[in-house]
Formats: sequence, C-alpha cells, structure tokens
Amino acid sequence: MNVANRVRPDLRFTSEVEQNTAPLYAKVRKVVPQVEWPHFAPLIDRINRLKAEKNAVILGHNYMTPEIFHCVADFTGDSLALARNAVKTDADIIVMAGVHFMAETAKLLNPNKKVLIPDLGAGCTLAESVTAADVRALKAKHPGVPVVTYVNTSAEVKAESDICCTSGNAVEIVNGLGVPQVIMLPDEYLALNTAKLVKPEVITWKGRCVVHEQFTAADIQQLRQSNPGVVVLAHPECAPEVIDVSDYAGSTAGMADYVAKHKPAKVVLVTECSMSDNVAAEYPEIDFVRPCNLCPFMKKISLEAILWALENEQHQVEIDPALAARARLSVERMLNGWKPGA
Ligand code: 13P
Ligand code: SF4
Repeated sequence: MNVANRVRPDLRFTSEVEQNTAPLYAKVRKVVPQVEWPHFAPLIDRINRLKAEKNAVILGHNYMTPEIFHCVADFTGDSLALARNAVKTDADIIVMAGVHFMAETAKLLNPNKKVLIPDLGAGCTLAESVTAADVRALKAKHPGVPVVTYVNTSAEVKAESDICCTSGNAVEIVNGLGVPQVIMLPDEYLALNTAKLVKPEVITWKGRCVVHEQFTAADIQQLRQSNPGVVVLAHPECAPEVIDVSDYAGSTAGMADYVAKHKPAKVVLVTECSMSDNVAAEYPEIDFVRPCNLCPFMKKISLEAILWALENEQHQVEIDPALAARARLSVERMLNGWKPGA
C-alpha cells in the first residue's frame, strides 16, 4: 500500500512504514480503527526516526490520544510521573506531549535542555485561574501559612509557593508539612477532597478544571442504574459530591493502577476521554463505560504538531532564570520532601 498523508504528502504509508509500525499497531488496534492507521503510521515512523537522530524524548500524559500515548511517547504517566521522568532523562531535547504547565515543569527541572511544547494553545483552566499577585495577596491575608500549589500552575505562581503537589501526592504533601493550616491552590475541588483526608485545615482557591467540573453526582447515579455492577473511578479534580458516590478517587496513574490491580469486569473512569482509550488498549477483556469529557487543551497535541515541533525544534519553553530558581525550589521540595523551617 502507498497512501499519501492528508496533511503531509511527503509522508506515505509505504510497505516499509507498514512493516516498521506493525508492532505499534498491534498495541492500539483495539482502540484505533484500521482505516485510520495509513494516516497515523507515516507520522509515527517519522517521529520515531527523528527522536533517535536528535536524541529527543517524548513525555506523554495519560490524556494523550492512543496513537501518541502508545506509539511515540517514551515515558507516559500522570503529572507526577512525567516530572520524575523529566529529572531522569539524558536526552538533549524533551518534547512535552501534554499541556504547557507540564512543559514548564520539565524545563524547571532541566534548565540546560531544549524543552518543546508542540502547541502554545495547550493551556489549562486551572493554571489560568490564579496569578502570582493572587498568591501574594493570599499570603498577606494568611501570614506564615504554607502555600501548597498544584503543579497545574504557571512558573510565576510556583515561584510564590512553598511547595508543589499533584493529585497523586496531595495528601502526603499536606500531612507531611506538620502544620495546622495550609493554603492549597488553585483547584477548589482538589483542595476540598484533600481536606477530608488530611490533618491540617485547608484554605482553598476558586480554580476549576473544565473537564472535571462538568461531572455531577446525578451523572454517576444514572451510570450505575444503566450499568449494574460498574466500578466508578473518579479524578480528585471532580466535585466532592462526585467523589462521595464513586468507588475510588485518584490521579490518572492511580486510576490506571486500580484497573491493573483489580481488573473490574466493568469500569468507568470519570475523567478525560483518552484515558479510557489508553487503558482499554491494554485490557481488551474489561468493559469500559465511556461517558467522558474532552480536554480542549490536551487535544491541541497531535502527531502532526509533535512532528512539527521536532523538525523545527519549536516551541521552546523559556523561563527567566531568577524566576525559575524560585519555582524550581517548590517542585524540588515536592520531589525530595520538605518541612517548613527545615
Ligand atoms: P494527573 O495526571 O496528575 O492525575 O492530572 C490530571 C490532569 O488534569 C492533568 O492536567
Ligand atoms: Fe487543565 Fe483539566 Fe485539561 Fe488537565 S484536564 S489540562 S486540569 S483543563
């Protein structure tokens, strides 16, 4: 077969490309229709060659579509795993197949490497919900109270914070501070859900994730009625009422681990749509019920955008060095552990 790519006529689905990518198609064939493969395969083949030529790695978040997640990403996972892998890599170029704050975190941890975000529109409603000035005002209102900042924030906001957290380690980070009160921002729901599980009192901010705020407790009840026996796993960016009626709450990696460990016959992941596709690709025997919401920011990242980023070594993430030093401290404290006054 020699099929021209709709977007890049120089990329063809030749028999060589078909052969090179056959093991990758085997990984995703449950979730990527065969009719789409002649479009994806030449892009995947070119990206994987370029990565080797340029000593580049691709970090892929769990919300990437399966052809990115399973076929070009070198490391995959939740925000915490991506940050940890960003520290370990010895590649010259890191391409973030995720959103801008994740690329910034990778750059903070690798100031001397080229970190690329394939589309500058890959933002986040949580990151946009709070500014550095907001954090300064909160600190003035609550003097001496440590600021625990979700990684879904800009470097400017991280620079004003004491320590970062992700949905995967929020409880551990807040409890580990050994203080009576914390400010937790910007996600109000993550903060409220964390507050139920920790000792300190939690002061919240008003940020919301556009994907997770849409789910309601009524949606979950309806799901259970139409799918008897379904196991409901929800992300802690959902409202507390949604978490209350779910069977498990955890980060995207937490949800994937739950499926791997418990192998429920029927499951719903109350989160972004691609997450179910990526996990379903590995567990064809599990029935995934799929009401989900798309993240418009994550979906800016396509194979075409990744190839463009690698070819042009764009868009490079740059952070002012003085600001980066302060922001890095908050991320490193999260990764390495920290107590106020230590
Ligand atoms: P985690 O992958 O860390 O659970 O985060 C979810 C998310 O919304 C990232 O944007
Ligand atoms: Fe931000 Fe929500 Fe999209 Fe994650 S899923 S990038 S938190 S808007």
